Amino acid sequence: MWPELRAGLSGWLGPRRTIWLIGTFLVQLYSVPARANAPLNYLVGAGPRNVSTLTWGVLIISIIVVVVITGLLFFATLKSWNRPASPIWKDRELVPRATNPVAVVYAGLILSTAVLLGVTIWTMMTLADVAAPPSKPTVSIEVTGHEWWWEIRYLNSDPSQIFTTANEIHIPVGEPVAVHLQSADVIHSFWVPALSGKTDLIPGQINKTWILADRAGTFRGQCAEYCGLQHAHMGLKVIATSKADFEAWRKNQLQSESEKSIGSAGQNVFMQKCAVCHTVRGTRAGGRVGPDLTHLMTRTTIAAGTLPNRPGYLSGWIADPQHVKPGSKMPRLQIDGQQLAEVRTYLEALN
Ligand code: CUA
Repeated sequence: MWPELRAGLSGWLGPRRTIWLIGTFLVQLYSVPARANAPLNYLVGAGPRNVSTLTWGVLIISIIVVVVITGLLFFATLKSWNRPASPIWKDRELVPRATNPVAVVYAGLILSTAVLLGVTIWTMMTLADVAAPPSKPTVSIEVTGHEWWWEIRYLNSDPSQIFTTANEIHIPVGEPVAVHLQSADVIHSFWVPALSGKTDLIPGQINKTWILADRAGTFRGQCAEYCGLQHAHMGLKVIATSKADFEAWRKNQLQSESEKSIGSAGQNVFMQKCAVCHTVRGTRAGGRVGPDLTHLMTRTTIAAGTLPNRPGYLSGWIADPQHVKPGSKMPRLQIDGQQLAEVRTYLEALN
């Protein structure tokens, strides 16, 4: 049965068809996840073009290498069925094969060396390109890693223009943004796959990187260095908007809460229960343990990307943070249902 099957198969499956089949399969296999619209897909970049060009270039070269090697392997396997093992013993003498197999090895060596050297040079050039931004950054931010959230401070030579926010970075489209990274506790890693590579946040040290978005959009980031229990829930977002929208957002962030004249039962609860850890600028709340909540409602998520910033989730988070994010520094507060509703109403006015 086997010879018939083999004859039938090799009749249909010539070397060309085999290579075509394997190639199509591999291209599909590689490019389906590559094209997926997943939040952390680094192959769909919006940052400096040269990085994604290199990634795709190397990916395509790798696919070609796999296809060629697999094709040659198949070809050689099929060929050897119809050919005697060589060298051949003939009349008690060793007759070498007509073709020189060593030449093929040399050719393979030269080809792979050339391709690898090319890829190395291309990678070095790209690394040199991304070492510094293409032009002077127009915005500078300081990102501090905490267990398990991101403190974000917009720097300025004028101290009145400095403000602090958390977990969501707003940037203007098309402009490089300088990012100074530091940690308040353990090592974290700043990673916004669509915009840049990873850079660690190391205690006692300031690391520098930069990001640039070439189109408007929201780009998911993630702590990429294991940093404890809630490492996986240490998400961030970079929101790239037009310069005008960015300026409007920045102006709003600069405002203090006193200018909005909020005073309520909820504010009293907040001052008693929350102010030791959280800041609301313009009020007595000046805690630095947790995120600055001055403009909480301008953010789309709470608990570092863990929950959507909507009333139900906000209530759940305040009522039992240890259920949502076990191990987080936010304790379960001793408050009743009415106080919970009041403090939530207070928070919902922080925009
Ligand atoms: Cu911070 Cu992992």
